[in-house]
Amino acid sequence: MKQENWQNPQFLQKGREEARAYYIPCKSLEEALVGRREESGRFRLLNGIWDFRYYEAYYEMPDEITEWDSIPVPSNWQMYGYDRPCYTNVNYPYPVDIPYVPDDNPCGVYRRSFVLEKTNQEIYLIFEGVNSCFYLYINGEEIGYSQGSRNMAEFRITPYLKEGNNEIQVKVLKWCDGSYLEDQDAFRLSGIFRDVYLLYREKQHIRDFRLQTTLDRIEGEVSLSTDEEEEIFVSLYDGKELIHTTVVRDGCFFLRVNDPKPWCAEKPYLYTLVLQMGKEFIPWQIGLRTIEVSEKGELLFNQKAIKLKGVNHHDTHPEKGQVMSREDMLKDLLLMKQMNINTIRTSHYPPAPEFLVLCDQLGFYVMDEADLEMHGFVTKDTMWEYKVYDETWPTDHPDWREALLERAVRMVERDKNFTSIFSWSMGNESGYGRHFDEMCRWTKGRDSQRLVHYERAYIADNPECIEIESRMYLDVEELDREGKRESKRPFFLCEYSHAMGNGPGDLHDYWEVIYRYPRLLGGCIWEWADHAVKKGDNFYYGGDFGELTHDGNFCVDGLVSPQREIKAGTLEAKAVYQPMSARLVSADPLLVEITNLHDFTDLNEYTLEWIYEVDGGVEQRGEQVLHVAPGESRCFCPGLQLRAYCNWGSYLSLRLKKRHSCAWAKEGWECAAVQLELPIKVRKAKPSGTGIHRWSVQEDKVLLQIKDEKGNGYAFHKIHGMLWGIYEEGEELLTEPMRLSVWRAPTDNDRRIKEDWGLYEDNIRAWNLNRMFHKCYEMNWERTGDEIEINVRGSLAGISRTPILTYTARYLLTGSGWLKVSVHIKVGSRVVWLPRLGFQLSLPYAMEKMEYFGMGPGENYQDLCHYTQMGKYRSTAAREYVPYIKPQEHGNHTRVRYLKVWDEEKKKGIQIVADTELECQVLHYTAEELSTKNHRHELQEKGTNVRLDYRVSGIGSASCGTKLLEKYRLSEKQMDFALWIKWGMEREKDETMEA
Ligand code: GAL
Ligand code: MG
Repeated sequence: MKQENWQNPQFLQKGREEARAYYIPCKSLEEALVGRREESGRFRLLNGIWDFRYYEAYYEMPDEITEWDSIPVPSNWQMYGYDRPCYTNVNYPYPVDIPYVPDDNPCGVYRRSFVLEKTNQEIYLIFEGVNSCFYLYINGEEIGYSQGSRNMAEFRITPYLKEGNNEIQVKVLKWCDGSYLEDQDAFRLSGIFRDVYLLYREKQHIRDFRLQTTLDRIEGEVSLSTDEEEEIFVSLYDGKELIHTTVVRDGCFFLRVNDPKPWCAEKPYLYTLVLQMGKEFIPWQIGLRTIEVSEKGELLFNQKAIKLKGVNHHDTHPEKGQVMSREDMLKDLLLMKQMNINTIRTSHYPPAPEFLVLCDQLGFYVMDEADLEMHGFVTKDTMWEYKVYDETWPTDHPDWREALLERAVRMVERDKNFTSIFSWSMGNESGYGRHFDEMCRWTKGRDSQRLVHYERAYIADNPECIEIESRMYLDVEELDREGKRESKRPFFLCEYSHAMGNGPGDLHDYWEVIYRYPRLLGGCIWEWADHAVKKGDNFYYGGDFGELTHDGNFCVDGLVSPQREIKAGTLEAKAVYQPMSARLVSADPLLVEITNLHDFTDLNEYTLEWIYEVDGGVEQRGEQVLHVAPGESRCFCPGLQLRAYCNWGSYLSLRLKKRHSCAWAKEGWECAAVQLELPIKVRKAKPSGTGIHRWSVQEDKVLLQIKDEKGNGYAFHKIHGMLWGIYEEGEELLTEPMRLSVWRAPTDNDRRIKEDWGLYEDNIRAWNLNRMFHKCYEMNWERTGDEIEINVRGSLAGISRTPILTYTARYLLTGSGWLKVSVHIKVGSRVVWLPRLGFQLSLPYAMEKMEYFGMGPGENYQDLCHYTQMGKYRSTAAREYVPYIKPQEHGNHTRVRYLKVWDEEKKKGIQIVADTELECQVLHYTAEELSTKNHRHELQEKGTNVRLDYRVSGIGSASCGTKLLEKYRLSEKQMDFALWIKWGMEREKDETMEA
């Protein structure tokens, strides 16, 4: 193994075939029409258990390896106990010293054999992905080398083969000069991690072909492995039916399709084209579509402006690392379709080709990205510095020209025939320089139809070769400015709404802007799935593997969990991306306007279900099929008689359900849901009523106890000025008093603001909101007949700081047993906006059943609530827990009008009625527990902890980039709120309501 090869950016391959389009030749037309590569007699998958040896440094490898372990291919060796995973984002996991990598460069040697019958065919060996570089040996002879981890490498191995047994050996190095071009934010994992296979070809065969379409025409170019003339037939099938044949002349052909059916993400119609030369049949599934840009900068797909509702997809699997089987990919794609996602950016490298086959079949708009990222150059000199046209970066250094260009070429050549790809992306976060100019120009020259994208081109003021202007993590206001700007180039958010942990919370705000402006294409949420390593039942992330540098849980930032479980953010994306919106036009008569947000599908492919709900119960329902053309709106009248008033709320829910099953959903699948609040008078909650309890008061130096003859009642702490106890039949229900607090366990999206809030022990910047002192300045009480009134004046202050707020609280107990709590709060003028504000209290663990009227059933926040609906829900503290990989705030419910929490066995509990609306949370974990534990398996339950909040700040997605929108921050300086609280489970309706 020659050291200079893998540390020489000009040595990129040895014996590797020129890049060509991905395809699998077949032996017969029947095979070709099956459409699965495993069915081809010319394809032989070499996946399986291979011999393997790992060396911590390549120079420890002996000349002859005598003892072997074994490992599956494909795999990442770090997931099988060799070496260790390492997670770093921007920083390289080694010094920036191009083109050199560490001397102790780990190495994995793979070996397997296969039997070859006597044949005069050509044999090609293909690697779909090897990280980071490899040497190929056939029967002991070194015949090849390649780098570029996610690009296909093909070798013609015929000359080195013999009849009978043949041995393949692959020596893979962990690092090479190419690793500097692969600084993507992910676990750094090595080995043969994608499929390996042989192709058995005729001596003379089609080497490459390129297809381009319009809406009724397919044009092709075909090139051969040798110069000899040979007849090539082209046939087009619609299913199994032959609809056209022609021949290739001078390397070209074209076909016109009669009665053509176009391809789009909503209706991915594919034809099968078969190229036949001699005994080889090459099938390719092709869709008819066009891609253009309008004068207004819209993206015209099949001549229609579309919006891209996207997500970034990385290869990641909790047990296999970056290995994704076809089933894994399918699982992702089916779930994306169900979440109304129509666009994928393959961040930040081309996926395995079969992923794109599935995208063509299921229908996605794909931005295919070159395997190129050099983010670590910005931090190489301890600063954060981008350079434009600068030779200290590989973007401009002449030695690296070919290495960069090759990454665009190999992607475009391999993937040029996939219908789903609408744009080529030149890579990610790699600065900008002249090699990028060249990559863009080459790409456009090779493929004039698809649009060239590279986000970081903005630092060079978007050179002309860039066709889509793009940014990541712009905030809503900046995006609005982009929308207003006149430009012929469409604007795209290649990344937005960082989905890390509990989140993202800002999707709805982004889409209000995106729908408003033609030039705004949409964007791709960062990112699809959490990256984490599963061992046993536990999940680990950066820093758990003894890395010298790492970025903690910044890789755990997906819309779905490592195992693809959905969370609130996933459903929020589904709701914001949903293909229907609705608004109330009038209440009398009840008239609703429905808008079809599809680009190509009429709403008559769905059943529109409507449900009239009053106080959480279904009053009336119906369904209808509505013809609404894509992009159009239409009024509809459910023909309902509304009630005059209700107790908690009254709504019209609309649900859009598929009428027919498809590849990703069964008939009846709900694609969209909208809940409209009906303008019906809600009776004001006011649980006062007549006196049935006769209070006796007991007072000592510290406690004020108020109980009726059955032992029901309350206790107040006279020193602390707090509600200290709630009694039901003599039993104390509170395990912790009811106190005002502002802390919540920071979410990942609070990762910046938490430095102002508190958490770190010696942070002089923080308000230390997690270490609060309650001060009671004054507490007095008074009795008038049946009523007892307690008044408190106090403050809250973080350790070492002035009070963040002062308050007065009035507790009014009437003969009904209900305790009305009214609070007036004044926040200090210099205080940071608060995580939340309200009461917290704790109950015994067994008091864990809950019922509420509010937003649910899933957790929700002011800005992350579009997937939830107002209603009456039952749950338990245990069910409210959301197992985020890194523990954090969760389980909140907004707009709560009443809440009951009780012990089912004892039939005891507490009930709360909001004066207007509260936000509530009921969990077995304390905020402190959720704030301080790093992994979910470390969490310990403690009691039942209840929060009754005036307001909780929103979620946003500030874990990367943009700040939480002002309107979702709890930054009010004066606040008033009130609630009623009482022991017991049963509340008689009439006692609590006033019309
Ligand atoms: C972007 C980057 C992504 C990822 C993300 C943060 O800057 O392109 O690869 O690092 O930030 O999760
Ligand atoms: Mg990066």
